[in-house]
Amino acid sequence: MILKNADVVLKDGVRKLDIRIEDGRIAGLGRFEGEGIDCTGLTVFPGFIDMHVHLREPGFEKKEDIASGSAAAVRGGFTQICCMPNTRPVTDNKVVVSYIVNRAKEVNLCKVRPIGAITEGQEGKNLAAIGAMKAAGAVALSEDGKSVLSAGLMANAMMYAADFGLKCLCHCEDASLVDGGVVNEGYYSTLTGLKGSIRAAEDIVIAREICLAESLALPVHICHVSTYSGVQLIREAKARGVQVTAETCPHYFTLTDEVIASFDTNTKVNPPIREEKDRLAIIEGLRDGTLDCIVTDHAPHHADDKNVEYALAAFGISGLETSFALSYTQLVRGGTLTLEQLADKMSAAPARILGLEGGAVEPGAPADLTVVDLNEAWTIDPAQFVSKGKNTPFAGREVYGKVRYTIVDGAIRYEG
Ligand code: DOR
Ligand code: ZN
Ligand code: ZN
Repeated sequence: MILKNADVVLKDGVRKLDIRIEDGRIAGLGRFEGEGIDCTGLTVFPGFIDMHVHLREPGFEKKEDIASGSAAAVRGGFTQICCMPNTRPVTDNKVVVSYIVNRAKEVNLCKVRPIGAITEGQEGKNLAAIGAMKAAGAVALSEDGKSVLSAGLMANAMMYAADFGLKCLCHCEDASLVDGGVVNEGYYSTLTGLKGSIRAAEDIVIAREICLAESLALPVHICHVSTYSGVQLIREAKARGVQVTAETCPHYFTLTDEVIASFDTNTKVNPPIREEKDRLAIIEGLRDGTLDCIVTDHAPHHADDKNVEYALAAFGISGLETSFALSYTQLVRGGTLTLEQLADKMSAAPARILGLEGGAVEPGAPADLTVVDLNEAWTIDPAQFVSKGKNTPFAGREVYGKVRYTIVDGAIRYEG
């Protein structure tokens, strides 16, 4: 296959090139004779990699399953996704890890890499079978949905994980401080009467994980950073050489907690959407490299879980089908990042952090490519989602950047 006359996003800039694909790999960049897909006016990115997704299978297939989640991924331009272990049963052993790997191969849309739980049943008591999960294909460990309560256990987890070449991805939340809070504590929690949660509930655990990484000289990755103060903790830690990496999500750099005034439960997410100073600090963190990557935290829920009063609704946003357009519109059109920097945040950085193949358009690399029309404006409509989760706070929002082709190992897995 040849992609002809594309604007190709390379590490050091964008160049007009043809891409020749052979045996699932990029065989060459340049000018090639022969038939091909005309990509005039289209932009080719290294296939997007989302290192933080909830696929819900096994156990919650009413919300999403590996087939529907993979379809949503390729529709969003993702060629590789990593799925969190808060399934039922919890992904805390090699059987569930193997099940996900095998089912994803049957579905055969994007690459799916399971993340194993840190503790058995995500109960915070005993470490899960880390080595066996790694052998079965787990690419990281996480207790996502909550934090590991005991710092001692977390330290042990980081040491074991490192011995197996895995990183811990930390959802940072002190439950005693959240104490039932469902939104950011501030003006809008007061206005709505919804119970708030303070930044410290997140920041204290970010600080703890940084302290552990520093003391043990081991790597740690901070999930879905939402606070200005968390960004600052990570910036300072990086400046003194701590092996910390971090992610944020589109909802944290495009929205503020003003959106909760509608009582729309699609705005309910954990950690909560915070204030303008947080949003601006997250954008600055992306710009200066404090925040390494953009993930969706794709958390699909059934209408039954969302169509209830705010306090009772499930936390989460269905994000795979909107992430690229929201990020491109806000960050590139908004003047914060270049296209190659966005490609780093959405592809190369996750690959680097987890040691995955992919993340670059270069000869020899797997032909995982996302072809986008950057000039096409469209309006987000959850009724069009192929994800089972229609829960988005972005319905009706106008964005730029439409995925035209998602190519995985040289095969077109989505055509828009
Ligand atoms: O909003 C969230 N949804 N945050 C989490 O940490 C978990 C996730 C889920 O699994 O629904
Ligand atoms: Zn989380
Ligand atoms: Zn999550």
